[in-house]
Amino acid sequence: GRVLHVVGTRPNFVKAAPVVAALRTSGHEQVLVHTGQHYDERMSQIFFRELDLPEPDTDLGVGSGSHARQTADLLVALEGEFTARAPALVVVYGDVNSTLAAALVAAKLGIPVAHVEAGLRSFDMTMPEEVNRRLVDQLAELLFATSPEAVGHLAREGADSGRVHFVGNPMIDTLLTHMDHFDPAAVRAAYGLPERYGVVTLHRPANVDDPEAARAAARALTEAATQLDLAVPLHPRGRAALRSAGLAHAPGVHLFEPLGYVAFMGLVRGAAAVITDSGGVQEETTVLGIPCLTLRTTTERPVTVTHGTNRLVRHGELVPALRKVLDGQAPSPAEGPPLWDGKAGARIARVVTQWLERHD
Ligand code: UD1
Ligand code: UDP
Repeated sequence: GRVLHVVGTRPNFVKAAPVVAALRTSGHEQVLVHTGQHYDERMSQIFFRELDLPEPDTDLGVGSGSHARQTADLLVALEGEFTARAPALVVVYGDVNSTLAAALVAAKLGIPVAHVEAGLRSFDMTMPEEVNRRLVDQLAELLFATSPEAVGHLAREGADSGRVHFVGNPMIDTLLTHMDHFDPAAVRAAYGLPERYGVVTLHRPANVDDPEAARAAARALTEAATQLDLAVPLHPRGRAALRSAGLAHAPGVHLFEPLGYVAFMGLVRGAAAVITDSGGVQEETTVLGIPCLTLRTTTERPVTVTHGTNRLVRHGELVPALRKVLDGQAPSPAEGPPLWDGKAGARIARVVTQWLERHD
């Protein structure tokens, strides 16, 4: 049977690459569908080139819109695609609108769904991602978990244990595969950064959509930049809000376009600290051993706090927390998260292969 992967956003590309590669090694027929949720060269194509993802078989070109508009367009476009391709299994990644739409369309067409990164919970239903994750996990037949707590959440929500597979973290497969190319000195030189610097990414609606929130974030970062130069590759969401909230003129703040994967991870690898509200960046900093200050009140990735370098901070706590990190008082756990060893893609491929043998 044919395996159809659906990807649409930057984090999807990073997670799908090792799964597609591992299934290719096992000789499966695969189809890669890009929904077009992200479409700028620096949010999309650059990842396909750098991560050795095959060209998508289709780009549905859905693009941006309100949640309803975007999800509706995704549903209609994906229904046509799945009907035409008749896959045996649809694989979806993470928690974005493309993930939810693909799971829903497949479920309605009677096509089984595999969810990579199942069971993460922030318990904050004001986050669009939390809504997406919960619904996708209800619909999926195969649930691939990246951490033990995720397995626990799925069990408590009543998922049959035969559906749940603890496989490790494919985003970390990608990190380990490309590690040799992450060159901090080269990126620093290319972007005119000093030897000691921090990296910032912010794009969560709670931090950037509301002008008051964007001002609070910009104030905290402006003050932080008096201690440490900050490299800030800005996601298109909130770019305008953060600039106009004062970040554009703050001394020590270096604003950039979104970076490609290799340049971004090169910067992170050489950073004294990372400040973020990203999901993936909390995980990558944990594996690289770089202190991470997460500007959120919750995380769906607590394993990065218990087994990693992550700490949640409010805006008002950022500057003292950064000072502590720069003074060398950063958490450095003895053991990283279990199974974040670069073999998640292979584990997923093994489960999918067995599943297909039983269902073909
Ligand atoms: C989406 C995900 C979020 C994920 C993030 C990763 C949902 C609900 N959110 O957020 O979970 O963390 O991707 O990066 O799916 N835009 C561009 N160029 C692009 C893409 C977007 O300019 O290539 C702009 C548009 O103005 C768009 C806005 O960014 O309206 C938001 O894009 P959207 O895909 O709706 O959500 P993200 O904020 O990217
Ligand atoms: N990333 C990148 N360039 C950037 C910012 C991020 O290549 O300028 C990568 C990084 O590996 C990160 C991934 O894209 O983990 C997903 O990013 P994002 O924060 O947009 O998504 P989230 O994980 O919050 O859903």
